[in-house]
This record gives sequence, structure tokens and C-alpha cells, in this order.
Amino acid sequence: MTPLTRRETACTLLDGQRIAAEIRAEVATEVAQLVGQGGRRPGLAVLIVGADPASRVYVGAKTRACDKAGMIGRTIELEATVSEAELEAQIDRFNDDDTVDGILIQLPLPAGLGNRRLLERIDPAKDVDGFHPYNIGQLWLGEPGFEPATPSGVIELLRRYDIALAGKHAVIVGRSAIVGKPMAGLLLRHHCTVSICHSRTRDLAEICRQADILVAAVGRTAFLGPDHVKPGAVVIDVGMNRITDPAEVERLYPGDRKRRATLARRGEVLVGDIDFTRVSAIASAITPVPRGVGPLTVAMLLVNTLRASRLRQGLK
Ligand code: GUN
Repeated sequence: MTPLTRRETACTLLDGQRIAAEIRAEVATEVAQLVGQGGRRPGLAVLIVGADPASRVYVGAKTRACDKAGMIGRTIELEATVSEAELEAQIDRFNDDDTVDGILIQLPLPAGLGNRRLLERIDPAKDVDGFHPYNIGQLWLGEPGFEPATPSGVIELLRRYDIALAGKHAVIVGRSAIVGKPMAGLLLRHHCTVSICHSRTRDLAEICRQADILVAAVGRTAFLGPDHVKPGAVVIDVGMNRITDPAEVERLYPGDRKRRATLARRGEVLVGDIDFTRVSAIASAITPVPRGVGPLTVAMLLVNTLRASRLRQGLK
């Protein structure tokens, strides 16, 4: 048996792509039932500002997924030079439009536009990203509201792989409003003991090594390696970094012909915040990049949009 085979049998690959497809199929079935019972088709409106190529790819994936699930996905693209007043007016139009159940402003916004003020303008009942202060408050109070898609996707992935959470020590590396902080709130709700680490954390490796569940969301290529991982830990990689240097690809994925081919074809390879090759040798379960957490973000956005629509249509 080669070392690679031994690693594969020891460590469960948490297949986000497969779980996301399951969730999307479930949403599609529920949308068909809703429409079959005379309900209105759920609608998601996405606002994208500027021409950031990565954001365009993500937004395209979100609206396509909506259409596939039988929902109505609509995108409004505005120039990076748009004024905040124009953006506010667009949000107001979405708020007032009864066919729009979910509103999403793709982040990051170009510098100079006030994220917070714009996010606060979204009707909390249509805030399918869960970024409005009302929904953030509900999350921390343990009350119903919309929860951000990426961390709720992580919870759903763990649930569908029967990974128990109660009493476990979860360590999150990264304190962003989109992932790190809501991830902490959700893990706490599932009875984990939660630590949040960040760029000023002292003895990072020592704290990470205490984790039964380690969540990496820092946006730095292969930032956490085997020194940060307790043998048998469950490792969740939320990072999505792009590398272009063949030597770096070879260092991170020695002898990996598929990734070398991806680099030749696309000029870049997607890499997480975890050193996957070395960490998967000691973890009990790990999400890959790509096809790990990423697809779950889109799937959970659909779940939130369907829920918003049902609530707005007076259904539970
Ligand atoms: N940018 C990166 N992740 C997200 C997300 O989950 N929602 C929005 N709106 N923008 C993002």
C-alpha cells in the first residue's frame, strides 16, 4: 500500500460538492411543491458593484444555482463609480419589490462604499446573507433569523457526516464578520467550547492543537500545517486562495499531476488555508479545496432564500 492510500483510508474527505448537490436537490423539490400548491416562485436579487473577476464568478454561480432550483435569480451590476445614494436607492427598490424574497450585496464592495450602512438598509426579512445587525443579534441570542451561508454550510456538512459537536473544543482561526464570528456563534449554539484566534493571537499553534474541530478562515495559503493540528481532529478549510507559482504547487501537492495540469490550463490553482497534503495525514476528517466548503455557501443561500420566501408568503 502506498503512503497516499493509507492517508486516504485514515482521513475522511468531507465532500462539500456532494452534500451541496443533495441540499440543492432538496430545495428544488420544495420549490416545486411550493409552486404546485399555488405559491409564488422564490426570487433572489444580487447586487454586484465593480468588475472584480472573482466576485463575478461567485455571483454567476449563485444566480445559476437559483435558476436550477426553480427560483428566480436576478443580478444588477453597477459601475465601481456608483454613488452610495444610488446604491441605497437600488436596495430600496429591492426592499419594495414583492417578487424579491432575498437580497444579497456581493462583498467586498469597492473601497469608499460604506459596507455597514448599505447592509443595514436591507430589509432584515430579505437579508438572506444574515449580515444585517438584526440577524447578527438573533444569531447570538439563539433566536430565529437568517444565518450567514458559509458557516451554516459548515454546520450542515458536519451534521450530514454525523460529526457530533456537543462538548467539543472548536478553534476558529479568523474573526471576519462573514465567517469567523458567525461560525463561533453557530458552534456555540451547538454546544461547542469555542476559541477564536486571529492575527494577534499568541501561541497560535498551541491553541490550534487543542482543537477537536479546527476551522481555518484567514485567507492565507496553507497557513496552518501539521504543527497546528491534533491527530484525529476534524479540519474545516474555508480558505480560497489562488497560487500561480509551479514551485509552490509542487511544494504543497508533491507529485500531484492533476493540480499541475490545472495550473497549466488555468494559470492558477485554488488552495485553502490548510496545508492539505500534510494535515490530511493526521486529521480524522478534512474538507478539500476546491469542492469543500465553497459549494455549500451557494447551497445554503438557496435554503435561506426559500425560507425567506415561505415566510413572506405566510408559510412556515
Ligand atoms: N463575499 C464572500 N463571501 C460572501 C458571502 O457569503 N456573501 C456575500 N454577499 N459576499 C461574499
